[in-house]
Amino acid sequence: MKASFWHACWERNSLGFHQKSIHPFLSQYLLPLITSKAHLNKPNKPQTVFVPLCGKSDDMVWLAEHFDVVGAELSDIACQDFFTDKNISVIPKSVVTSASGESLKSKGEFKQYSHQNITLWQGDFFQLTSNQLPVFDWIYDRAAIIALPKSMQQNYATHLSSFIGEHSQLFLISLEFPQEELEGPPFAIFEQDIERLFSGFKVQCLADRELKDKTFAQRKFNVSYLKEKLYLITHNDT
Ligand SMILES: C[S@@+](CC[C@H](N)C(=O)[O-])C[C@H]1O[C@@H](n2cnc3c(N)ncnc32)[C@H](O)[C@@H]1O
Repeated sequence: MKASFWHACWERNSLGFHQKSIHPFLSQYLLPLITSKAHLNKPNKPQTVFVPLCGKSDDMVWLAEHFDVVGAELSDIACQDFFTDKNISVIPKSVVTSASGESLKSKGEFKQYSHQNITLWQGDFFQLTSNQLPVFDWIYDRAAIIALPKSMQQNYATHLSSFIGEHSQLFLISLEFPQEELEGPPFAIFEQDIERLFSGFKVQCLADRELKDKTFAQRKFNVSYLKEKLYLITHNDT
């Protein structure tokens, strides 16, 4: 999917993927995990979560009740809307990054939108490197990897893996359906794909749910089945 595709979606307000409510897996599955690990937290040090390809998802509002949130999003409209929808005015800051030791060709241009404990990096996720950001306790992928065609998924997974620290936990929601019945995005990703994309990591499937009315956020799909699966992905020795 080219950047122009996503920019056009935001310009046309064609946001079928955008949820009107918080994803239920967060309170069902993430909350108990956070609570069970609460005793490991260092006092006065908030836990952190990274949200790649975050759009203007209000899941970040839920996450901000528990963590410091850092999102990465291509669209300026998405970043602005996330805050203006909440009547928050934010003046973005320009940031030019370059991975240390690399040529200027690899530099990334970002805008940073920050308010309280939420910071959105507007720019190309693939230009954002893990050494520019802290090591996160959590990473949350909802409708990010499934937004990318097969040809981009390994690049994305490899890049995302560079953000998975020794103790980070990636909470990833995938979508399963017969791909031949629907032209993506979204793109179906099955358990064997997740195992392959994140080979070398420990992959646990925590939950699945059948979307009985075949509705994904604001879109209804004409497919024979539609299922969301939740994975917890960590380093092998975690
Ligand atoms: C399907 S949407 C999902 C958004 C969000 N995760 C949610 O749950 O609503 C995919 C998002 O990825 C963004 N995106 C696509 N390519 C990107 C890239 N290279 N870097 C950063 N964001 C990107 C798009 O602009 C879009 O907002």
